[in-house]
This record gives sequence, structure tokens and C-alpha cells, in this order.
Amino acid sequence: MADDSTVRQRKPAPAEEPEDLQEETPVQKPKKRRANIDDDDLDVYTPWVDILRVLTFLLMASCGLSYVISGGESWFWGMKHKPNYMTADYWKDIIKGPDPPIYLTLDELAGYDGTDPEKPVYMSINGTIFDVSNGRHIYGPGGSYHAFAGCDAARGFVTGCFVDDRNADLRGTELMFMPLDDPETDAHWTEKELEAKRAQELEAAKQRVHGALLHWVKFYSNSKKYKKIGYVVREEGWLDKEPLKELCAAAQKGRKKRVVPEV
Ligand SMILES: *[C@@H]1O[C@H](CO)[C@@H](O)[C@H](O)[C@H]1NC(C)=O
Repeated sequence: MADDSTVRQRKPAPAEEPEDLQEETPVQKPKKRRANIDDDDLDVYTPWVDILRVLTFLLMASCGLSYVISGGESWFWGMKHKPNYMTADYWKDIIKGPDPPIYLTLDELAGYDGTDPEKPVYMSINGTIFDVSNGRHIYGPGGSYHAFAGCDAARGFVTGCFVDDRNADLRGTELMFMPLDDPETDAHWTEKELEAKRAQELEAAKQRVHGALLHWVKFYSNSKKYKKIGYVVREEGWLDKEPLKELCAAAQKGRKKRVVPEV
């Protein structure tokens, strides 16, 4: 109760709220104030320019001090994840616009698997290429996700078989989300019921494949560390020319028999 009332009391003074609360009560205040301004008010001294000056000075002083103390290594106190606006990419995107997307064949993409320390590290998922150079220790040689580098391993992302499934052929992966046929268990249903059941299971399994892939596509798309840079170029109809692949052993192992509902 006590907390409640203090929160309410503080509401009318949004300028002093911490940032996250401020967002909940968007800028109504300044707008109202604006409506009251007449020409005379414009001559009145406003502290904002000075405040901005001081802040700019502090930021520059901080950067300078960091630069000196780190012996020229870092402007930002060695921060690993600099705020967005402190990265060169951020300003480059604003000033010059984002780079046009690059288009690589799988063979070309393979040249960016991190083995050459002079080149960036790229990976693709479901046809979209990301620059993962910021995670070179993970995606480069010896890193735990090295299998994803220099290829499109959409299948591996779904099955979890990083090494076996370095390809983007998702056909058949829905099997991993489908129950195993087992004559003894399945005798519980008539042949017709079973057929309908299988159709349902297949639909649900396809949804799960999509969901699993989407999870990772979103992960890379929303990452601040990695950058979407382009697309894999493929021959039209490439998938039809690929031989069907077997579900990898680990994914196959996770499959269970159907469960007979308890009555
Ligand atoms: C993968 O790519 C295909 C073809 O571009 C697209 O239809 C599908 O929605 C994509 N899947 C995900 C999860 O993004």
C-alpha cells in the first residue's frame, strides 16, 4: 500500500523518473508546456544548451581518459558491448545508409568460415547471411559453433546435429517431432483412427520445425552483436536436386512411442 502511494505521488514529475518509468508516461508534459509559450518566453534563459554542453564534455572527457589510461586501446573503458550509438556501424548506417546486401553462392560462403583470420566470419540460416565476426571465438576454428560458419546449416539448427547437418534441407526433419510407430501401442486405435492421428501429428510436427527454425532466425536477426548482410544465391529448384537425407541419429533417438490415453 505504502509503495503504491509513493509511486502515484511521483507520477506528476516525470522529468525525475528513471528512464523505464518515463517511457510509461510518454511526453505529454512537454507538449502541454509548449502550448503556453508565447514570444516573450523564447527570450527566457533555458539551461538545456548548457546541460548538453556539460554532458558532451563529460562524454568526451570519459573517452579521452579511457584512451589515455588504456594506453590507446579503448575509448570506452574496454566495454565489450558498447551502446549502439557508440559503434561505428550505427553512425555509418545513419549517415550513408545501410550497405547493400551481398549475394554469395554456398561455395563463396564457405570461404568465410573463420579459418582465414584476415576475412570476416559469415554464417547463413535459411538463406540469410549474417556477419558473425564479433563472435569469432565461437564461430571460428575450435569454437563450439564453428560448424555453422561458412554454410547454411538451417537443418542443423533444427535437429541439433551441428556436424551432420550442415545444410539447409529441412525435408524430413518433421520426423523428429513425430511419434514412433509401435504395433503393440498402436493396436489401441483402428487403422482409420491411426491414419487421422498421423495426419494431425504431421501437421503439428511441421509447425514445430517452423517454430524451431524461426526461433534461430529471430535470434540472429535481432542480435546486436551480429549483422544481417545478405543472402545465399541458389539455383532455382536446388532442393529438388538434393537427395533426401536421413534424420540424424541424435534426433531420431529423441522420438518416443505414442501414448495411449488413460481412460
Ligand atoms: C525459410 O525460408 C523460406 C523460403 O524463403 C520461407 O518460406 C520460410 O518462411 C523461412 N522460414 C523461416 C522460419 O524463416
